[in-house]
Amino acid sequence: MSDRIAAAQATLRANDRGGYTVPNPHIYPFQWNWDSAFVAMGFGTFNAARGFDEIDTLLKGQWENGLVPHIVFHAPADNYFPGPSVWGTNQSVPTSGITQCPVLASAARHLWEHAPDRALADARMAQIYPGLIRYHAWWRQTRDPHGTGLVATLHPWETGSDNSPAWDGPLARVPTETVTEIIRRDTGVVDPAMRPHAHDYQRYIHLVDAFRGVAWDPARMLAASPFRVADIGTNAVLLRANQDLMALGERFGTAPERAALAAHSDQMRAAIARQWDSAAGIFYARDLIADAPIRVGTSAGFLPLWGGAAPPHQAASLAATLGRWASKVAYLVPSTDPDDPRYEPRRYWRGPIWSVVNWMIARGFAAHGHSALARRIDADTRALVTKNGFWEYFDPRDGTGLGGPDFSWTAGIDLVLGTDGATPATSPSASSAQTSAAPAC
Ligand code: DGY
Repeated sequence: MSDRIAAAQATLRANDRGGYTVPNPHIYPFQWNWDSAFVAMGFGTFNAARGFDEIDTLLKGQWENGLVPHIVFHAPADNYFPGPSVWGTNQSVPTSGITQCPVLASAARHLWEHAPDRALADARMAQIYPGLIRYHAWWRQTRDPHGTGLVATLHPWETGSDNSPAWDGPLARVPTETVTEIIRRDTGVVDPAMRPHAHDYQRYIHLVDAFRGVAWDPARMLAASPFRVADIGTNAVLLRANQDLMALGERFGTAPERAALAAHSDQMRAAIARQWDSAAGIFYARDLIADAPIRVGTSAGFLPLWGGAAPPHQAASLAATLGRWASKVAYLVPSTDPDDPRYEPRRYWRGPIWSVVNWMIARGFAAHGHSALARRIDADTRALVTKNGFWEYFDPRDGTGLGGPDFSWTAGIDLVLGTDGATPATSPSASSAQTSAAPAC
């Protein structure tokens, strides 16, 4: 085993709390939804059973209505704000009351397809598949009840890209007053210049207060939230996850489940196509309150490639857009267009590079025939770690590691890249999982 693989495995083991993995114990001392999805894939490269544990443990926090929360507070820790008492969700396992970018079913499929022990993989997948089906039904029923093809996200934390400049406009509608006293812990351990501003946190917590005030009732949250956006990243990732779940459903599910996923995917594909901006050469998120596109170029705008929602001419245009971005930075993929005045290369989701997003974008480009660009993105993802280690995020100009060190999902993706090789060959098609354990993503 190489030193690098040993170091990545050691990072996951150090952050392992027994069945779940904290992203970083000093900043995020609980289990996070999409972090755990990527971590499960990382564990899958050397211990598939432990990878399945990660998803099992996350699903222990699943709500009766199907929601998989963005944080599960399995054990107390006082170094994170907002903790369980602020959320006040009254679940038997304490959790937050919102969800997060729904990559879980795609990660589960990856884990299942790569597991060497097929009997174990089948047995473990059979256990988690019903939870994944309920989660996707929750997305359809509570976040797109009228079947528009776009699911709504009601909190910037749900998108995963918390302080993206894409949310500046919609978030400005959210009042800064809070019932809850804000006692931030993050800025005690990470340079505040790399984190969201105080005014962002006031609005984040205003939303939590508001949702707690309607007892986390999905319909009332959707109707009352002053922040309601169709994140292009969340929608593309859900479309991809729908297809991965359909592929798993061939073996583990029923025809009606697959039909519901297929119908939703058709609606989503059509709606995502309408978020394309041909002049800008990128997909935009949509403000569902203003009913208008959010014209900010972000790395999420490339994710319809991963979701399988971009025809060849749009893939070519996206490649040209990323080529322009590449001429402005040393490493790909900055989370905001480097030409945008709101681009901040060190502030969290306003510019830095995130390995997990790179991984999805690279596979999206590869699936559309842009292999050289895909290889460049993978090479950059690896080079950033070679240069600096498993940091939470990286400065696109010089690769400086930012946020927290020894970060679980960065190590997880490094393991996946080191194991799968640098040339991704993936498409969201359902075919390979139906019949074999051949890698699809
Ligand atoms: C944080 O606390 O920064 C997270 O992104 C919220 O989930």
